[in-house]
Amino acid sequence: MSSLGTIAFTPNAIPQAAAPNLMPLRVRDLGLSFEGEAVLSGVNLDLGPHGCTAIMGPNGAGKSLLLKLLHGLISPTTGEINWGGQTAAAAMARQALVFQKPVLLRRSVAANIDFVLRAKGRPRSLCNALLDHVGLAQKARQPARLLSGGEAQRLALARALATEPDVLFLDEATASLDPASILSIETIVRDACARGVRVICVTHDIGQARRLADDVVFLQGGRIAEHSAARDFFSAPQTTAARDYLNGRLVL
Ligand SMILES: Nc1ncnc2c1ncn2[C@@H]1O[C@H](COP(=O)(O)OP(=O)(O)OP(=O)(O)O)[C@@H](O)[C@H]1O
Ligand SMILES: [Mg+2]
Repeated sequence: MSSLGTIAFTPNAIPQAAAPNLMPLRVRDLGLSFEGEAVLSGVNLDLGPHGCTAIMGPNGAGKSLLLKLLHGLISPTTGEINWGGQTAAAAMARQALVFQKPVLLRRSVAANIDFVLRAKGRPRSLCNALLDHVGLAQKARQPARLLSGGEAQRLALARALATEPDVLFLDEATASLDPASILSIETIVRDACARGVRVICVTHDIGQARRLADDVVFLQGGRIAEHSAARDFFSAPQTTAARDYLNGRLVL
């Protein structure tokens, strides 16, 4: 595997048509109900142009649904989402979402990237650089279904980056990976963030949130209980719910 520390992949070198910036994100009074039952309510959120935001909170708090709303995959029952003047649906094309379980094409590793590059009208020559970037260059011709969990997730991340997203969403993307795989994914995410990709990740991994996040949105019972700088959140959480969550106590 190539060293993830020496990265030659420089997508910003490719000339692009100027596009309006998707940030800042402005969310107002967002609510989501299923059959009259509210699963998210009164969500207000402002995110600035740079960095990595971690969304944390107990199981069932509404983290994945919030991510899907922000990405425009589902529509809210109430309220609005504004990405630099655009709706979530309009902004979706310049965003990418990586789930806990990567869904890969039943083709070669390289074909998974090639497919996205073609769909996005980007140079297919980028495929090698992307695979090298995530340490999969040696496995380019191998069927993607033979990859290990950590390798498959790196391919999913490379595929997300192949779209050259302005915003990268991660929903527990490292939840079932070993510590070394987690760190290699974090290296790729940190690098993307340093190149200006806005990262919003859901994670239960407190160590990961400490390593990656600039700020933390803490959800409980479908509401934002706390939104603070990561340093403050981990050193002095403001709510009992967040304190209990960080201490491993059940919060519902
Ligand atoms: N399609 C649906 N219909 C009805 N309820 C739903 C639907 N999708 C999700 N929910 C409910 O909404 C709540 C929030 O779900 P969500 O998947 O966002 O939780 P989460 O915070 O991501 O939890 P986890 O940490 O377990 O992934 C849960 O109680 C879930 O059962
Ligand atoms: Mg979830």
